[in-house]
Amino acid sequence: MYPLRRNRRLRTTPALRALVREISITPDDFIVPLFVVEGKGKKEEINSMPGYYRYSLDTLKTEVKSLWDLGLKSVLLFVKVSDKLKDNAGTEAINPDGLMQHAIQTVKEVCPDMVVMTDVALDPYSQFGHDGIVANGQVINDDSNAILAEMALSHARAGADIVAPSDMMDGRIFEMRTLLEDEGFVDTGIMSYSAKYASAFYGPFRDALDSAPVDAQDIPKDKKTYQMDPANRDEAIKETLMDIEEGADIVMVKPGLCYLDIVRDIKNTVNVPVAVYQVSGEYAMIKAASERGWLDHDAVMMEQVTAIKRAGANLIASYFAKDVVKLLG
Ligand code: PBG
Repeated sequence: MYPLRRNRRLRTTPALRALVREISITPDDFIVPLFVVEGKGKKEEINSMPGYYRYSLDTLKTEVKSLWDLGLKSVLLFVKVSDKLKDNAGTEAINPDGLMQHAIQTVKEVCPDMVVMTDVALDPYSQFGHDGIVANGQVINDDSNAILAEMALSHARAGADIVAPSDMMDGRIFEMRTLLEDEGFVDTGIMSYSAKYASAFYGPFRDALDSAPVDAQDIPKDKKTYQMDPANRDEAIKETLMDIEEGADIVMVKPGLCYLDIVRDIKNTVNVPVAVYQVSGEYAMIKAASERGWLDHDAVMMEQVTAIKRAGANLIASYFAKDVVKLLG
């Protein structure tokens, strides 16, 4: 008399499947990345990210309100600055009157309860497209940390709730945490991109911000000396535990889909919230294939965010956040 256990019994109807479902997706799971540009009345579609836009501060207001109305409670801000503001020192990154600082204030103005997170890395401000300062053909760790900490402080002063260092320098969390404490920003959180891989999936993002490493003599052509090797798993735990020790409140794995083993390892190891960044290339792949009619956009999108959450993500930074929440109804 086999089988006594028929696993299909619990799959027979939608209601039964819903009752035994292990995880579900809600608006609270998401962080919405937003790209901001100078100017007025702008809503520019990003070439390699169909349906995703760069907003000027005025159109940003409308977008943020609509996100809040959909139940989305957190944004992660990135800025595209003009070439003339770029240098090798991060000067514009700490300008109290800079685009990022204004973007933070703008979001808080229209939506004071929205959790405002900000990207901390020099690449959008770097004439060389690197996350830190370049000298002697290298991205220099310690000098970069000093300016990155100043950048985090500048965001906190402008009203950011959580700063999100994506630069992968060693020791930057400690430096930031110390400076924020010293300056009285004891409640400003740090979401650290702890296990951030040197991934080819960041391509569309670099188009969005015009922030790719430049091709020039004595400038590193990629970010492999500071971002992680995709072949490494144990190292992700080392990176993550160090960031927590240095004061990170939330840790992150990035990208998502190719790194779900890492997400689960980290989820099983740490006791702080784990975020996952479903990156621009992951978004672009689904958009491109579904535009050709090769994949069912909504079904694939839901399957991927479900997989990310099932792997152990407490938070998902995703360009699909709005689409997902609209689909949830
Ligand atoms: C910058 C940064 C990158 C992303 C987030 N912050 C790009 C990079 O490291 O080159 C990628 C996000 C995405 O691809 O969606 N430090």
